[in-house]
Amino acid sequence: MSKSEIGLIGLGTMGAALASNIADNGFRIAVWNRTTSVTQAFHRDAGTLADRITPTETLEDFVAAIETPRAIIVMVPAGDAVDEQIARLRPLLGDDDLIIDAGNANFHDTNRRAEASGDLPYLGIGVSGGEEGARFGPSIMGGGRKVYWDRVSHVLEKIAADYEGEPCAAWMGEAGAGHFVKAVHNGIEYCDMQLISEAYGVMRDGLAMDATEIATVFDGWNDGVLKSYLIEISGKVAAATDPATGKPMLEVIVDAAGQKGTGRWTVIEAQHLGAPIPGIEAAVVARNLSSRRDERARGEEIFGAAPRRIDRDAIDMDTLERALIAGKILSYAQGFTMIAAASEQFGWKLPLPEIARVWREGCIIRSAMLNDMADALTEDASRNLMFAPYFTRHLEDTHDALRTVVALGATHGIAMPALSSCLAYFDAMRTARGTANMIQGQRDFFGAHGFERIDGGTGQHGPWAMKAQSG
Ligand code: 6PG
Repeated sequence: MSKSEIGLIGLGTMGAALASNIADNGFRIAVWNRTTSVTQAFHRDAGTLADRITPTETLEDFVAAIETPRAIIVMVPAGDAVDEQIARLRPLLGDDDLIIDAGNANFHDTNRRAEASGDLPYLGIGVSGGEEGARFGPSIMGGGRKVYWDRVSHVLEKIAADYEGEPCAAWMGEAGAGHFVKAVHNGIEYCDMQLISEAYGVMRDGLAMDATEIATVFDGWNDGVLKSYLIEISGKVAAATDPATGKPMLEVIVDAAGQKGTGRWTVIEAQHLGAPIPGIEAAVVARNLSSRRDERARGEEIFGAAPRRIDRDAIDMDTLERALIAGKILSYAQGFTMIAAASEQFGWKLPLPEIARVWREGCIIRSAMLNDMADALTEDASRNLMFAPYFTRHLEDTHDALRTVVALGATHGIAMPALSSCLAYFDAMRTARGTANMIQGQRDFFGAHGFERIDGGTGQHGPWAMKAQSG
């Protein structure tokens, strides 16, 4: 067989799906996995794709099976495994061979690896869409030197999802830019999932709706403004029955959410950037809190269960839907403003409209709204999405519903960290004169930090400073 056009290392769930996708799109691919039996099984099970796949048992054979200059995708768990893999692979490669880390790397690691690669070709690409996306069309966010992206973009664009004929794959910028954008994608993903789970809480705890009714509501929402992958799968999750007990699946799943770290990285980075993303932060906090099951049970023992039932007349499904629409717009707005802040800070020139475009299909946060976001950011990429006329109109129609739902949560003891944080973000962002003048007064009082006066003059001090000096 002729040599492979590309290689892939790491045949775990995502790597195997991506390799099959590449072969399915007509490319010849060499694969290697640390455990040879995994490589053999992958090839054996590849069916009609097997002809395009070259399974290899040693890294040397793997490298030899690929056309030069080589392009090699590394799909191993993020962290040390990537460094170890690169360290083993690089000595076997020529100076023009390209390594592409397609895992969920922390973008600081990608920056470091890109720097350490010097002139040796290296890309870090964010891949979203879970196993199904990887197999049939993910969303791909590329980072590294553009010249290397251009070398493999014909493959990546072909295997990516497409939105009305446009590939959901694009170059985001130098070094860790692709993995940074992927991290913010995941931050928005966390917030979207949390917002949906809070709406589920209103239905389950506030309105005593059963899982089947809840599934019907999600299905209905998926025909409207909220149309998205996460709403769609929430309906499917709510509708599913546990084969072992016959109960709704949701009743048998423990209420403690896992996390691999990307949401946390987004929040940490947002703090460094001074970018306000309270909804995303709340979603990460909610996951952390969800794992404290014993403490929560202890709290319920001490304080009693929250008075949860809401009068059916107090809220209808339309209000809840509109609250979720507001929350979702505000959550994406926060994510995009964080990307804009990073773009400036890191000198990346991140292409905001293009980011919205590559998220329209394939990725976990794909949603009908993203096409309108792409349009709004094309008009003006520097503007918070809240202030783009299309989304301003939506928020005018929905923020009162968000207020109603959050108020009901507060009076009925239903925790709504993401919905309430998004509402606080909205209110803060529409308040021309906030309350930080008090904070500035306090800072000056105890630390003589100085403040700016509204009638002019920076580095000013209040009368308390004079008192301290004279005393
Ligand atoms: C994607 C997902 C994916 C994510 C894991 C779970 O875009 O395909 O974001 O990359 O990492 O599915 O992430 P958590 O364990 O952090 O929830």
